[in-house]
Amino acid sequence: MPSLNSHNRDAPIGIFDSGVGGISIANAITKLLPNEEMIYVADSANAPYGEKSPDLVLARCQRIIDFLISQKVKLIVVACNTATLTCIGKLRSLYAIDFVGVEPGIKPALQATQTGVIGVMATANTLKSPQYAQLQKRFSGDKAIVNQACKGLVEQIENLHFDDAQTIEMLQQYLDPMLKANADHIVLGCTHYGFLSEQIGKIVGRQTTLVNTSEAIAKQVENRLIALDIFTSKKQKANSRIYSSQFDEKTRFTCETLWHGNFTKTSAFDIN
Ligand code: DGL
Repeated sequence: MPSLNSHNRDAPIGIFDSGVGGISIANAITKLLPNEEMIYVADSANAPYGEKSPDLVLARCQRIIDFLISQKVKLIVVACNTATLTCIGKLRSLYAIDFVGVEPGIKPALQATQTGVIGVMATANTLKSPQYAQLQKRFSGDKAIVNQACKGLVEQIENLHFDDAQTIEMLQQYLDPMLKANADHIVLGCTHYGFLSEQIGKIVGRQTTLVNTSEAIAKQVENRLIALDIFTSKKQKANSRIYSSQFDEKTRFTCETLWHGNFTKTSAFDIN
């Protein structure tokens, strides 16, 4: 099946998440590929996906992807572990465009662990997906994985409540079982959690490594662009576009605060 829009190397890359979490991936793409324009959709009106039904997550992904394709994107990054594990196989069967997805980085964490124990912070949907069970089965061997569904953290991040007492308390509660089990690597299995790296790092200490896949995903995007021969020919820094389904000043402020590259003002993504 030929890729849609693959003829246009200067077309933007489409990228989306249930909310602002995928901006952590967009920032890694901006750093590695500054001339690649992106169209980012934050489905903040429907966050978190982590506790929605798989059918609803699929339906939201389809609405966003239809929009991105109407904007003539050349590649789509599903910057959401929950959506990737819930439905990327289905999305690949429905659309001709190329997708790059995001999965919790348990493989590098399991390869690097010295204690034989790793922790995984993710959403409830990610942890209960059959795809995640397969990932664990494939890579865990004799190592132990302490999984933790981090209910409520996405909302704290959507509201930029990084240092709130409530956020720190949640983190302490979620990280405690991993630390007690002697985990030396903690996988940030949700794209939102990268924005809490500093707060998590303070709790777990320097002897524990945080595993964040955003740079690896940016590299994967670069590899796909090269393989498909759709690397941009533009020589100047891109000006990306941000859309949000929750179109209020607060959400606009959140998107624009977290975004590192150049962007035009956040627009409404009216698909509810
Ligand atoms: N940022 C997302 C992820 O990587 C989704 C979180 C959510 O909406 O629950 O899983």
